[in-house]
Amino acid sequence: MAGKQLTLFYLLLTNVAEGVLPRIQYQMSGDLIIGGLIPLHNYDDISERCASRRDIGSLRLVEALVYSITTVNQDTERLNGITLGYEIYDTCSSGSETLKNSLAFVPSLRDKDNVLGVVGPQRSSSSIQATKLLGLYNISIISYLSTSDELSNSVRYPYFYRMVPPDIFQINVIVDLLTSYNWTYVGFIYSDDSYGNNAKLEFFQQVEESRICTAYDHRAFTIVPKAGHLANFDEYFRTNSLNSNNPWLKDFQEEVDDCRGSASNCATDGERPQFESKVADAVEVFVVALIEQKRLLCDEAEPPVSSKSDCVAKIIENRSSFRNSILEVSFLSPSNGRVEFNSKGDAAGRYDIRQFQTQKENQFEFIVVGNWSEIAADRHLSIDRVKWYLDDTTGGNTVYRKPWCRSRFVVNHVIPGRLP
Ligand SMILES: *[C@@H]1O[C@H](CO)[C@@H](O)[C@H](O)[C@H]1NC(C)=O
Ligand SMILES: *[C@@H]1O[C@H](CO)[C@@H](O)[C@H](O)[C@H]1NC(C)=O
Ligand SMILES: *[C@@H]1O[C@H](CO)[C@@H](O)[C@H](O)[C@H]1NC(C)=O
Ligand SMILES: *[C@@H]1O[C@H](CO)[C@@H](O)[C@H](O)[C@H]1NC(C)=O
Repeated sequence: MAGKQLTLFYLLLTNVAEGVLPRIQYQMSGDLIIGGLIPLHNYDDISERCASRRDIGSLRLVEALVYSITTVNQDTERLNGITLGYEIYDTCSSGSETLKNSLAFVPSLRDKDNVLGVVGPQRSSSSIQATKLLGLYNISIISYLSTSDELSNSVRYPYFYRMVPPDIFQINVIVDLLTSYNWTYVGFIYSDDSYGNNAKLEFFQQVEESRICTAYDHRAFTIVPKAGHLANFDEYFRTNSLNSNNPWLKDFQEEVDDCRGSASNCATDGERPQFESKVADAVEVFVVALIEQKRLLCDEAEPPVSSKSDCVAKIIENRSSFRNSILEVSFLSPSNGRVEFNSKGDAAGRYDIRQFQTQKENQFEFIVVGNWSEIAADRHLSIDRVKWYLDDTTGGNTVYRKPWCRSRFVVNHVIPGRLP
């Protein structure tokens, strides 16, 4: 593994030497730049290229980043004249593409050392690549969706933070759900990779002492990080974004046309998690921490630094103290409640519990039936919207045998949510 990564770094550096830096895809200038690493396409491992495009939700994430930065700039008082720009790249859902894109933010490879931080990537494997490289330069990365437990390692990834909790919490949610409803026979479905196997180990450890019996069966519940609606964004997306110079618009032409036709065709459906609000919160984290840095390094310096360009330069020089300001951020997000990080850079554990329900005839959807919070006082295991399928008596074989477990049973299933 290490060898493979070294080779990759070597190849990349060779490419840089040959002048093959990634092309900037979507940008606006500013005194300080917020980078964006967002997947708009999938990756084809065989041709080693960006291939089919993802759904319109990806385009919305990009525009949510643009929208948030534009909104910050409209209030000139807030940053006292310092403007934010952006440079957004398509990671193509690939770790190696992400690493290549991340080179664009490396100070020595840029015309100007002015990257404040990066929002993204989405997938954990991509976040690991990006933060391994940019961490070398003390550049902070805030992911809106990477949930792998590995990224909680703040010794290895000190400059990585995220707006979502690590997967490990999902197991606590599951066990809470099971015990508070006295469900004793459950199916635990997991994928045969490090994510699934870690989840399984953790789950079996936690239920070891309980009366819960486990077996395999089909899925019914899922647990996803809570993400609220980003107010005013739907309208912005339809009126501004679809006429912007977003270079990916034409790839999404069909859906975009659909969207122009009717607003309802372009809002994501209400029941789907909207990680756009997490992108907006990530930008807000950078802004709140930037205001704090400006206060410490410029306004309250002795003597005070009053020139905007000197102040910006000081903020860039002190990226390691920017990290402290990020970890101390605390604000109330209009979409997602209190935003804070623990010392590992993880957001608080807050989840929606969704059930796979029959809606209309033969139509299934994941419906929100409850929620869970890491903070005990905030915990609402309110699953009043649960549909009970009483005729579903499909049983399975108990695989985790305890003396009190029968071999046939009626099942309720809970699975940790796997994000796209
Ligand atoms: C990163 O921060 C550390 C202090 O925590 C500092 O010693 C180091 O020089 C910084 N590296 C860069 C590339 O700025
Ligand atoms: C679960 O079991 C306990 C003890 O048997 C009982 O007091 C409680 O009401 C049960 N809860 C539910 C939701 O059925
Ligand atoms: C900012 O960086 C300078 C030079 O590295 C250092 O002397 C100073 O202590 C830093 N300030 C803070 C508040 O970290
Ligand atoms: C959970 O759901 C309840 C009832 O729907 C709601 O009152 C509460 O605010 C929610 N809590 C969280 C943390 O989302």
